[in-house]
Amino acid sequence: MPEAKNTKPSKIGGYTPTQELGSGAMGKLWLCHDKSLDRMVVVKQMQQDIEDSDVNIRRFMQEGNILAHLNHPAITKPYALWKEKDGKLSLSMEFVHGLTLRQILDKVKQPPLWVIEAILHEILCALGEAHRKGIVHRDLKPANIMIDNDGRIHLLDFGIAHTESPLSFSKGEQAERLTQTGAILGTVTYMSPEQTVGEEASPASDLFAVGIIACEMLMGQNLFRGTSFSDTMQRIQKLKVTEKAFSKELPSRLKKLIVKLLNKDPRKRPLTAFDAAEQLSMVMRNLPRDMVPYMASWILAIKDSIKQKTESIDETLFMNPPTYPSHFKSYFFKGAAIGAILAGIISFILVHFISK
Ligand SMILES: Nc1ncnc2c1ncn2[C@@H]1O[C@H](COP(=O)(O)OP(=O)(O)O)[C@@H](O)[C@H]1O
Ligand SMILES: [Mg+2]
Repeated sequence: MPEAKNTKPSKIGGYTPTQELGSGAMGKLWLCHDKSLDRMVVVKQMQQDIEDSDVNIRRFMQEGNILAHLNHPAITKPYALWKEKDGKLSLSMEFVHGLTLRQILDKVKQPPLWVIEAILHEILCALGEAHRKGIVHRDLKPANIMIDNDGRIHLLDFGIAHTESPLSFSKGEQAERLTQTGAILGTVTYMSPEQTVGEEASPASDLFAVGIIACEMLMGQNLFRGTSFSDTMQRIQKLKVTEKAFSKELPSRLKKLIVKLLNKDPRKRPLTAFDAAEQLSMVMRNLPRDMVPYMASWILAIKDSIKQKTESIDETLFMNPPTYPSHFKSYFFKGAAIGAILAGIISFILVHFISK
């Protein structure tokens, strides 16, 4: 719950807070002005009441540490981690000026296919970087994904990420988190089957969550969201999504990939996030390599319709990316033409011989 306005501190570290961005499980987020570089930054502060918990302190510090060691444009850069005079742990980081995927999906239930593909591809690449460094995100959901005004996609919130470093947390702590209700319910909705039974999350668990997010965007609803905590758990463990569940118009390769991401057995999901990204890029071969300008134009249209309070998005407000013929088709037709010519020559020669 946001606190009253008069609790806004006059300074946080060397920064001037301008507005509260929100408050989450771990603490409060402030949008601040950094006078020294004349830019906006975000400061995440730990909530006072949970500050005494050693686990939470370690988790908070670990988030800063993880962000500092990941190097990917879709992963927010941290600037500093320090303790305020009043004891509050604070983490300053890059400000992502845009919308969360949750806000976007609340407005447009089914984004255009090219938008969905661009989001999934970038998230898979960011996850590839994290997994490569032994970090599992564990909390993938639309509220932890943002698209900025320049059309760039960001993966946020490594607050409960798991690392192979000595700071990793035991199964017991994970289970403790799972039994909490309310805020945790949203997270359970994007959890993998193995996590719901208390098993340690692996990179493959993050891939399952990507599969759920993909399904939600392509279908306009999250099939795994139940009416209660246990109903959601049941769906995650039992609900089988097949290619038939998707619209016929969707590329079959994309459907196959999502079904694979959603395999209940983590060993049967794509081998790595990079591998999944590669398979997705095959589906995206007819799209421009750089989707950022098109994403920027789309996000502007969304922002406009949120401001105007209009029901749907005016397609004329954004620029659709050009599509190029797929290599397969052009190779296929070239191959067929060459084959036909060769067949003609061979039959001519044969006829010539036989007639002699
Ligand atoms: N770097 C950032 N720039 C802009 N908004 C952010 C940033 N980080 C977080 N937010 C916003 O704050 C919300 C909560 O932040 P998050 O890191 O997910 O913390 P929590 O652990 O509380 O969920 C996000 O959903 C997003 O709306
Ligand atoms: Mg979050």
